[in-house]
Amino acid sequence: MNLHAYMEQLKNEIDAALMAHQYSSTHTVAEAMRYSLRNGGKRFRPVLLLMFLDAFGVERKKGMATAVALEMIHTYSLIHDDLPAMDDDDMRRGHPTNHKVYGEAVAILAGDGLLTDAFNVLVNDQSLDIDTRLKLVRLLSAAAGSCGMIEGQMLDMEAEVKPVEDLEKLKNIHQLKTGKLIEFACLAAGFIADPTDRQLHKLRWFSNHVGLAFQIQDDILDVEGDAEKIGKTVGSDEASGKSTYVSLLGLDGAKAMLEAEINKAVAELDGLPADTEMLKELTLYVAGRDS
Ligand code: IPE
Ligand code: IPE
Ligand code: MG
Ligand code: MG
Ligand code: MG
Repeated sequence: MNLHAYMEQLKNEIDAALMAHQYSSTHTVAEAMRYSLRNGGKRFRPVLLLMFLDAFGVERKKGMATAVALEMIHTYSLIHDDLPAMDDDDMRRGHPTNHKVYGEAVAILAGDGLLTDAFNVLVNDQSLDIDTRLKLVRLLSAAAGSCGMIEGQMLDMEAEVKPVEDLEKLKNIHQLKTGKLIEFACLAAGFIADPTDRQLHKLRWFSNHVGLAFQIQDDILDVEGDAEKIGKTVGSDEASGKSTYVSLLGLDGAKAMLEAEINKAVAELDGLPADTEMLKELTLYVAGRDS
């Protein structure tokens, strides 16, 4: 099976699991949560998690609830990221942003709902033992919390007022705001598959490079992407004065960094006792993605 077909299959499984976890409640916040969850999205993070489980030879269904929880948290982060007080964006996943449809108050609550319910999905996951669930809750709360993604979002906002001129500082912002959830995808697969410490270490390094590469490509697409394909407004970063790899290094510099990170990520996959051919292709896809 080629990468495209494989990704499509995993995406379909994730979409089905996401819908199965949505309760039938009809109140407006539940409707707003479903609106953002159903509105496409590449499902990159849960796909990555499930691909690692396949590579380790572990049944995918053991990671499905974790994949759902992860995508719920990612979706919440996008709803809040688009709010007028943050990036103030009108388009997401090819549709009007959540607050454009439901208003700011409902969009805030929809994000809160997805964030909180994600942990409910994790702790109620009957396919994993209690110890593994606890490890995953600890890992996900740290990745998404105030020393992880939230810190990254805060630093990213501050960098609008005071531009970042130091590459290491910018790298730190990317690794927190985007890298942390991608790191969770890889480490969660590791915890479920139960590999050695050395293997977990490699998963962490791999994810650090991929997470950075993923956000560098996001910054590049904000400059030269096709709005139809990326489903968001092009030029949003420049309009809000964001510090990005492109603003710091220029397009060519950002592309060179992207390639370097992708190569480092692929090198980390080499030593893993797993069938990592598809993961290598997925890593290369990160650099070439146009949506
Ligand atoms: C967008 O993430 C926000 C970033 C952290 C770069 P994705 O590019 O994964 O967005 P969706 O889920 O496919 O819409
Ligand atoms: C978003 O980064 C990171 C999180 C939502 C945590 P961006 O602000 O660059 O993402 P887009 O470009 O709006 O998708
Ligand atoms: Mg943002
Ligand atoms: Mg944004
Ligand atoms: Mg962006």
